[in-house]
Amino acid sequence: MAGSDLRTTIGTLEIAPCVFNASGPLSTRDEELWALAESDAGAVVLKSATLEPRAGNPEPRLWRDSLRGTSLNSNGLCNLGCEGHARQVERLRAEFGKPVIASIAGLSAQDYPAMAERLGRVASAIEVNLSCPNIPGKPQMAFDLEAARSVLKAVRRSTRCDLWVKLPPYQDRAMVEAMAQLLLDVGVQAAVCINSPSGLEIDFETEQTRIHPNGGMGGAGGRDILRIARWNIRQFFLALAGKVDVVGVGGVYSGLDLYGHLLCGAGAVEVGTSYLEEGPKIFGRLKRELHEVLAERGVPGIAAKIGALRVAPVEA
Ligand code: DHB
Repeated sequence: MAGSDLRTTIGTLEIAPCVFNASGPLSTRDEELWALAESDAGAVVLKSATLEPRAGNPEPRLWRDSLRGTSLNSNGLCNLGCEGHARQVERLRAEFGKPVIASIAGLSAQDYPAMAERLGRVASAIEVNLSCPNIPGKPQMAFDLEAARSVLKAVRRSTRCDLWVKLPPYQDRAMVEAMAQLLLDVGVQAAVCINSPSGLEIDFETEQTRIHPNGGMGGAGGRDILRIARWNIRQFFLALAGKVDVVGVGGVYSGLDLYGHLLCGAGAVEVGTSYLEEGPKIFGRLKRELHEVLAERGVPGIAAKIGALRVAPVEA
């Protein structure tokens, strides 16, 4: 079903349709990235880069259950390194018309501006990942506001490229407001909510953890995290008051799930575990389903629905 307008704007970027992949799953190798570029995804997001290539954590480091629609990962930032990613971005942009977003995850604070400077010369936007849960001994920067402020300021100084900031799931309104204020102060273009909540899976036959690095603990994805994502998207949408865009990620399997993230305030939506499950053809399906959701409601496009969640007044 064609017709409704699925175009969106995040920062300075026009993206159509408003759905594409989340950084991480199937977003490292050339074949994966080229398949994304050829798919119906509105953009291509690369796996988070570190300055140097990394092999990542020992296996088994990724577990998923297709029946439950859930995943747990502790990949340990396996990636081709900043220079390798820069070359992929350059080639993708030369070959395809869609935005290409590079993700950066420094092992130290100084790595961030160095990578942003390099990738900012070639990428359409940079996703600054402050929320990788899987590096032992490295707390997530997004939970240390002073560290986050100094990194984001340095990144902002290093490039004029659009900056998206990948945030963890917060569970507290005060923390959301403090982070939102920081994003406004620094002048970034988008908050990406959410990275994986921390989790643990058990194989009850062996009473072992499902993945082995980091004591079996890792980042959870899939249906379980849909509501947590909604809460964060909504909170950041309200706190950022239209001055910084929100990109929603977490638990999206259907056009209706996607529509829910838009209603909460996401201007665009990324998919991780469901894309890992279904591959690049998921973007055509989600696009079709979103067209159907809009047609059923007689809505001509997504623009008027972003953040338009209705909340009934409650008597005091
Ligand atoms: C990894 C996981 C993440 O959630 C992330 O944001 C970055 C890297 C990983 O384990 O590779």
